[in-house]
Amino acid sequence: MSDLTEDVLGETVVEINYDELIPNNVDLMNDKQLKKALESWQPKYVDWWNEAGPVNTKDFEVYLRTAVGVDPKGWAKFGHVKMPDYRWGILLAPKEEGRTIPFGKHKGEPVWQEVPGEYRALLRRLIIIQGDTEPASVEQQRILSATAPSLYDMRNLFQVNVEEGRHLWAMVYLLVKYFGREGRQDAEGMLERRSADEDKPRILGAFNEATDDWLSFFMFTYFTDRDGKMQLASLAESGFDPLSRTCRFMLTEEAHHMFVGETGVGRVIQRTCEAMEEAGITNVNDIEAVRKLGVIDLPTLQKKINFHVSVTSDLFGAEVSTNGASAFIAGIKGRFNETKIDDDHQLNDDNYTVTRAVDGKLVDVEETAHNAINSRLLDDYHDDAAGGLGRWNKVIKRAGFDFKLTLPYKGFSRKIGTFSEDFITPDAQVVTEAEWNAKKDEWLCTDSDNAFIQSLMVPCKEKGKYAGWIAAPRVGINNQPEDFEYVKLF
Ligand SMILES: [Fe+2]
Ligand SMILES: [Fe+2]
Repeated sequence: MSDLTEDVLGETVVEINYDELIPNNVDLMNDKQLKKALESWQPKYVDWWNEAGPVNTKDFEVYLRTAVGVDPKGWAKFGHVKMPDYRWGILLAPKEEGRTIPFGKHKGEPVWQEVPGEYRALLRRLIIIQGDTEPASVEQQRILSATAPSLYDMRNLFQVNVEEGRHLWAMVYLLVKYFGREGRQDAEGMLERRSADEDKPRILGAFNEATDDWLSFFMFTYFTDRDGKMQLASLAESGFDPLSRTCRFMLTEEAHHMFVGETGVGRVIQRTCEAMEEAGITNVNDIEAVRKLGVIDLPTLQKKINFHVSVTSDLFGAEVSTNGASAFIAGIKGRFNETKIDDDHQLNDDNYTVTRAVDGKLVDVEETAHNAINSRLLDDYHDDAAGGLGRWNKVIKRAGFDFKLTLPYKGFSRKIGTFSEDFITPDAQVVTEAEWNAKKDEWLCTDSDNAFIQSLMVPCKEKGKYAGWIAAPRVGINNQPEDFEYVKLF
């Protein structure tokens, strides 16, 4: 056990060996072939980080947490680190003895420790898609540090970035260890694609969208990282045990990303309300007056929510999908909270209600529960995302303003799935294309809205200070004092 692990956690944790080039708790030392393959991928990964990761930051010393154990009680050590020196490693949640496949046609059989031949292609594809999103988000966010509203926020951005990098390591570990030569090629591919690249884009649409302002970053970490949570949670149920253990640990990191998003948006709302109160503005829809105060008006925040929810909803794939059904039946990808659901976990005779737009109306259609797996996960996502909105609305209400942020309907502005051919308003009305287009600028940011948001993106690099459009956080990271130097800039 390394010193680092003993320091924080005593003897009870699964060991992580930090003495090796690649920190790990998978006994890499005794798997020569895997070690060699990963050690040859490692320098290419660092090259990718330097080329496609955060711009002009290689000498910054960032107050980062590094995982030193996978025990939920305490797994982090904080310290100033240069990002290219961050110890990216391979960390899996502990093995549960006697674990059985929790769902699908193999339910009750012992979990697989090796890839079952018949599901090899399916598993490989799921791992590649999940893996591809991780470096993609780092690429999307690479220019943001130049306009960080504070050192605190800059540090949070970098923490998210290094952890997404580690999530790539997690998926690459699975590919290289379990998928032979093809897996090694897939690992290379992860470093070759680039977000928004014309020739070699990232696989999923939302990961080719720009995240070029901080409001987008907070919305992304709240809404799109939450898709990550839902996908990882379903894969954590997998009968392929190494995937399950990998995802279980990734989920603990994902929680922090959503915290950054929720508190980030919350602080924007708080600052807007404070500024309106100070200026005596009571009409929240007087956008011009609010913007003159240098804060982001609430209707624009609603538009940003609409956008991020719609592009993220597309990440769930077609609501009715035979691929989704196959992955469930095979025991590869479960439902959200699968093991907590009270049913037979096989769903051979069950239905699930999927909504469609038919003749200008939304109607409920019964589909087989298997084919509707994606639809169910999307519904679970919308329920899960509602929590933060409730808390944001409390901030507005406490300040005494009559305005409520809402989640747009799941069919709003979709490019994939059941609603992709329809024109649906955020409040679930089916309209014509012409009607939709006439209202579009009320629902989604216009160029001038985006230009306004961009105009606020001036950096604030003074310790303990914040840009005028965002409130200070209530507590520091790891309880650090207000004027803590979260990033030492060089
Ligand atoms: Fe991730
Ligand atoms: Fe994330």
